[in-house]
Amino acid sequence: MPIPKAELHLHIEGTLEPELAFQLAHRNNITLPYPDVQTLRDAYSFTDLQSFLDLYYRLMDVLRTEADFHDLATAYLTRAAAQGVRHAEIFFDPQAHTQRGIPLETVIDGLTSALDTSLQDHGISTHLILCFLRDQSAQEAMDTLDAARPHLHHITAVGLDSAEVGNPPEKFTEVFQAAADLGLRRVAHAGEEGPATYIWNALNHLGAERIDHGIRCMDDPELITHLATTQTPLTVCPFSNVRLRAVPTLDQHPLPAMMDAGLLVTVNSDDPAYFGGYVHDNYLGLQHHLGLTDEQLRTLARNSFTASFLTPERRDALI
Ligand code: HPA
Ligand code: ZN
Repeated sequence: MPIPKAELHLHIEGTLEPELAFQLAHRNNITLPYPDVQTLRDAYSFTDLQSFLDLYYRLMDVLRTEADFHDLATAYLTRAAAQGVRHAEIFFDPQAHTQRGIPLETVIDGLTSALDTSLQDHGISTHLILCFLRDQSAQEAMDTLDAARPHLHHITAVGLDSAEVGNPPEKFTEVFQAAADLGLRRVAHAGEEGPATYIWNALNHLGAERIDHGIRCMDDPELITHLATTQTPLTVCPFSNVRLRAVPTLDQHPLPAMMDAGLLVTVNSDDPAYFGGYVHDNYLGLQHHLGLTDEQLRTLARNSFTASFLTPERRDALI
């Protein structure tokens, strides 16, 4: 049985497996620009973040109805349970749907209809994290937060994702402040492809409480010291880093060095349908390629609960 763990960096749209994409396309009378599942899977060969994002946004077109979002979330929860996930903090990208005419209510109602019974059905507690697309304008992010106001009881935090380089965190200072004023927690992708300065700016300008990816912190000794001293969690995604070529091979992943530096590191799957595995597959990959010990894997699992937004009661019950 895989070790119990939390998953803290998971884009629900990135769990869309090719088989489900074809099913939903059929249900919605959409013709995908791929003849079959295998041809689609063969297209999952990426050179960088943007080449992945292009396919990720294109394939989302099959997500149209509340039932589609429900089925997407249920498929993830079923797989996550088998991977030992006991708590999941799940990103979603409202703008990727509203911009193609899908109402925000459809997205949130569909997702929450699956998440609301997840603890009973799958033994997994969940939180939802609303992400702003950083390659869109700050005003569009603010409009998205405003549109989400009636749904805030379903939302724990805001995040920041999509194309990183050229879209620094400080572009979103105002909307992150507005989110904090509404009582939302804050996280941000930073230092995946972008430089260490983006991590500093996510902390200092956005008030990010966790950094998603963050691997480029290893370029800046002062930042390593800061992150270690403050025990700011980093949600690292090893398979993603290799598939998007942020790291050349798994054998060369900086995760062991990050742990040795005293950083609060967690391991996550990011977009598992696209990157070759779910969260426990990432743990096993690290063990196999980097020789992580059982004790180090236990530390990573414990870190995942420590770094979560769970109440102390449920966190203590899970650790
Ligand atoms: N990085 C940035 N944006 C994303 C990612 C990622 O890894 N996955 C989905 N959106
Ligand atoms: Zn991500």
